[in-house]
Amino acid sequence: MKKILNLIAIFSMFLMAEELFAPIPIDIKYNRDVVTLGRELFFDPLLSKDRDISCASCHSIDGYGTDNMPKSVGTDGKIGNMNSLTPFNSIYNLSLFWNDRVKNLKEQMVDGPLINQHEMANSSDEIEKRLQQSNKYKKLFLKAYGEPPSFSLMLEALAEFEATLLTPNAKFDRYLRNEAELSSSEKRGFHLFKSYGCVSCHNGINLGGNSYQKFGAVIDYPSNSTRVDDRFQLTNAQRDRDVFRVPSLRNIEKTFPYFHDGNIHSLKEAIHIMGYTNVGVLLSPDEIDDIENFLKSLTGEIPKTFYKTE
Ligand code: HEC
Ligand code: HEC
Repeated sequence: MKKILNLIAIFSMFLMAEELFAPIPIDIKYNRDVVTLGRELFFDPLLSKDRDISCASCHSIDGYGTDNMPKSVGTDGKIGNMNSLTPFNSIYNLSLFWNDRVKNLKEQMVDGPLINQHEMANSSDEIEKRLQQSNKYKKLFLKAYGEPPSFSLMLEALAEFEATLLTPNAKFDRYLRNEAELSSSEKRGFHLFKSYGCVSCHNGINLGGNSYQKFGAVIDYPSNSTRVDDRFQLTNAQRDRDVFRVPSLRNIEKTFPYFHDGNIHSLKEAIHIMGYTNVGVLLSPDEIDDIENFLKSLTGEIPKTFYKTE
């Protein structure tokens, strides 16, 4: 019965497939003074305990917001246990992190990088003190908020900056807006992506980021979930072993290596594994090429505010 329901679900996804995607907006409104402050903070190692790493150390331009390393290296050279996710387009994710443990960008920063011993390893009091001692930040906070620096305003500014980190104008987005044609290989890849049911998990504006699912939904993927933050770490329910938030596939060619453990370097290999473990199909090399070409059409432009604020 469950199988039949799944088949119906996948079939109806297929019928509605075009509506399951949406382009990233091209223009968004934001408060320039707040975003200028947020950007300054994002690139400032002052936030980390030893003043040696900033958010941008792990979330770089080249990696479209990732560090392109299997696991990130934090302050003191400590190695984390998860592959870095990108803040780009993360405003569209239902909630944040591989296991969905926080609901918004402000919670994310406190739970995650600022205090996490594998990342910036700092404390809120120490950060606030440093900001209040800096003439640069006194000025920037005054301009943005009319108030002196505080930890909570700092979180707001960083969250506002992160909300501007969108990657618009991917070829796929232009295709959705009827401004570009996909190549025949990209078209075949898009068709396979829908007909094999990849779309049942990777849909929405981010082609993912809006549900949690098992890695190995059809055939188990050998992994060691005792050392990674899967949903089980939050819920202690056996069914949540190897369950993760479905990653966004936007800019996927740039955000290697793949999967929560960063163990897979090639996108073709990642597609092959997904085909096998999550839809139960051994994809042919031609099919993998086409799906890869389709996924490459999801690469957008680096967010303007990541370079500079006017
Ligand atoms: C030492 C490396 C490192 C530093 C420094 C770091 N991050 Fe991260 N970031 C990561 C890793 C690894 C993840 C994925 C963690 C997880 O899911 O368990 C992540 C996840 C995120 C996410 C979640 C994206 C999503 O879709 O769920 C956001 C947003 C983010 N970081 C923003 C920031 C900000 C802002 C800072 C600075 C205050 C920062 N990061 C500093 C490594 C880092
Ligand atoms: C049942 C839900 C589901 C289906 C169906 C599915 N995926 Fe995934 N996909 C996931 C989950 C969950 C992950 C994260 C796995 C992990 O890292 O532990 C993922 C990860 C990926 C990644 C790596 C992303 C990254 O940032 O590391 C790629 C690429 C991918 N999927 C492509 C596909 C393709 C292509 C198909 C169809 C052949 C597909 N997926 C079908 C749930 C699904």
